Order: sequence, then C-alpha cells, then structure tokens
Amino acid sequence: MKVLVTGGAGFIGSNFIHYILKEHPQWEVTNLDKLTYAGNLDNLRDAETEPRYHFIKGDIADRELVDGLLRHGYDAIINFAAESHVDRSILDTSPFIETNIKGTQVLLEGARQYHIERFIQVSTDEVYGSIENGSFSELSPLSPNSPYAASKAAADLLSHAYFQTYHVPVIITRSSNNFGPYQFLEKLIPLAITNALEDKPIPVYGDGLNIRDWIFVVDHCRALDIIIQKGEDGQIYNIAGGSEKTNLELVYQLLGLLNKPKSLITFVSDRPGHDRRYALNITKITERLDWKPECSFDEALSVTVDWYLGHKPWWLRIKSGEYAKYYDRIYLHR
Ligand code: NAD
Ligand code: TYD
Repeated sequence: MKVLVTGGAGFIGSNFIHYILKEHPQWEVTNLDKLTYAGNLDNLRDAETEPRYHFIKGDIADRELVDGLLRHGYDAIINFAAESHVDRSILDTSPFIETNIKGTQVLLEGARQYHIERFIQVSTDEVYGSIENGSFSELSPLSPNSPYAASKAAADLLSHAYFQTYHVPVIITRSSNNFGPYQFLEKLIPLAITNALEDKPIPVYGDGLNIRDWIFVVDHCRALDIIIQKGEDGQIYNIAGGSEKTNLELVYQLLGLLNKPKSLITFVSDRPGHDRRYALNITKITERLDWKPECSFDEALSVTVDWYLGHKPWWLRIKSGEYAKYYDRIYLHR
C-alpha cells in the first residue's frame, strides 16, 4: 500500500507515521507537509533512515504540486494537514480558510482525477459544537462555534459532497481531544506539563470547568488504521477515548504526577465562544469496525508526562523560538 499522509510533521500525523511504519512493513509512506510553526521534522528523526518513508515540503493548497505528486500513484490519502488551534483561529481566521477548506478541496480534486481508492478526512468533534448532557452521534447536526471548528466543518461538508457527486471514496473521522508525545506546546496538556517543569504559571481559561473527552494519540492512530482497511466509503466515524475531565481536574492530575504545587494554576479571562463540553457517541465504530479505546487514561497521561520529561531539548527548542512571541501575545493581554 502506498499512502500519502498530509501534515505528517505535526502531532497526530507524526505519531501516525511512526505507527504505520511499525505496523505495516509493506507500506510506503509519503509525508507532504508545509512545515508551518506546528510542523517539526524533529518529530520524525527515527523515520528518516527508513527507505519506505519520504518527505516532501509543500502546501496542500498548491494544486500544481498536489497534481504532480498524485501522478505517481497512491492508494490512499490521509489528510491531517490543518491549522489546528482554536486560539490562533480567533486571532486570525485566514490561514484556517486557506489550509482547512481550500487545501482539502485541492486534495479532494486530486483524489477525483487520479482515482485514489481511499481518502480519509481527519476531522474533529468540535464540528458538532458544545453539548451539556449526552453525546453527539455521527447523525447530529454540525454546529461549530470557533473559526477553527467552522473551517473543519466546511471541509467535512465538501468531503461529503465529493463522495456524493463524484464518488470519491471519502471517509470522515471525528476524534475527541488527543494527547501524547510530540504535541505542540500551545495545547493544554503539553503547555501545562512544560510550564510546570519550569515552575511557570499554568493559564486556565474561565472557571476551568470546561469538559473535554481525552484520547491517547496511539488509540486514535489505531482507529485510523482500522478505518483505512475496513471502513466503508461515504461514512463518518466518531473516535473518542471516553475520558471526560474538566480542565481543572486534568491540570490537578498533571501537577500531582509532576509533584508541583496547585499554586501554579492562574485563572485567566475566558476564550471567546469557549465550548463548554465535547462528548461523542462511539457506538458506530465500536459495533461496525470493532475498535474501542484500549489505553487507560491514567497510564497514558503518565507515559505522556514521562515523554516530556525525557525530551527536554525537543520542547526547549520550541519554547525558545517563534512560539515565545505567540505565547506572550495570547496570554499577556488576556
Ligand atoms: P498540528 O497543528 O500538530 O499539525 C498540523 C500539521 O499540518 C503541521 O505539521 C503543519 O506543518 C501541517 N500543515 C499546516 N498547514 C499545511 C498546509 N497548508 N499544507 C501542508 N501541511 C500543512 O495538528 P494535530 O493536532 O496533529 O492535528 C492533525 C489533524 O487532526 C488536524 O486536521 C486536526 O483538525 C485534527 N484533530 C486534532 C485533534 C487534536 O486533539 N489535536 C483532535 C481531533 C482532530
Ligand atoms: P486545547 O488544548 O486548546 O484544545 P481545544 O480547545 O481544541 O479543546 O484546550 C483544551 C481545553 O483547555 C479548552 O477548554 C481550553 C482550555 N485551555 C486552558 O484552560 N488553558 C490553556 O492554556 C489552553 C491552551 C487551553
């Protein structure tokens, strides 16, 4: 199987490439990544010596580049490439429209022309919006609240349209919040771990009682692998870890693991339009594809903390670069 992974230098994409190279000794993986602030080739150092792995620096919204690439023949496209952070989408919507919507359209068009047999659009639970009680199924209406979620919802709708209109074999996956190794520091868990390790304040938005359902990234990768092999064209699959936590509960647990004081927590003004709770019903993927989350949340969180403890040069390099400017911009004026 010859697979084109987009956004493979980011958090989930790089974990997925490691997973696939290990699980499928016959598969060949090409990673197309623009290397934005979130793309980091350090995430793939282990893969570089692997002859079945290839890297191409480029933009998924670049039609010519994508055409030239797809001409070489791929069996599947797994589209991870995206602007992925809600806070950045509030600061500037434009790159989210360009990459998440236009980029997806360029890939779908390429998939149509070159008769790609599998197209996985990696999406998010955030397209359903917030839910106070119960959970969203794949049939729930889309009600995105942030520019990020709106751009992902638009890409989902376009993907669906390419299936209905042109029979491009698209499958949409909607996952809950991921955590694990190689996650960029702007997201809650790596931000809290690395700030705590430096005895710096941990910003908690609003009252800290927003709820997210966390999934260990390896469980997500395994779900995607099963979907590539057994998923049905035109379907949507929710993927979640079943570990709901308030942000405060989560940060307390991290501080406990790191043996750091709760006084590091600093309440800051809330994110505009902050979704209160995300929750997914995963009956469909469980019953039809026999997938369920296997990693215990507590163990996976402890593995994640250990990973950041053991990879200080990885995150210090990020903290000393462009990220510092973003961090000041987002938190100093909150
Ligand atoms: P990330 O921000 O860590 O990585 C995104 C990657 O995409 C980076 O390597 C970046 O360089 C690349 N990229 C950005 N724009 C590009 C472009 N125009 N062309 C080519 N490459 C480009 O994101 P992530 O957390 O790994 O998320 C991956 C995917 O999973 C996204 O589509 C996101 O919406 C989805 N998702 C993420 C989560 C989560 O909790 N992180 C949950 C559900 C779904
Ligand atoms: P985040 O990791 O940005 O993921 P998402 O917004 O896509 O769910 O944030 C997870 C939750 O943590 C969300 O409710 C916002 C909150 N949060 C904080 O309280 N402080 C922070 O510094 C960050 C980055 C997030």
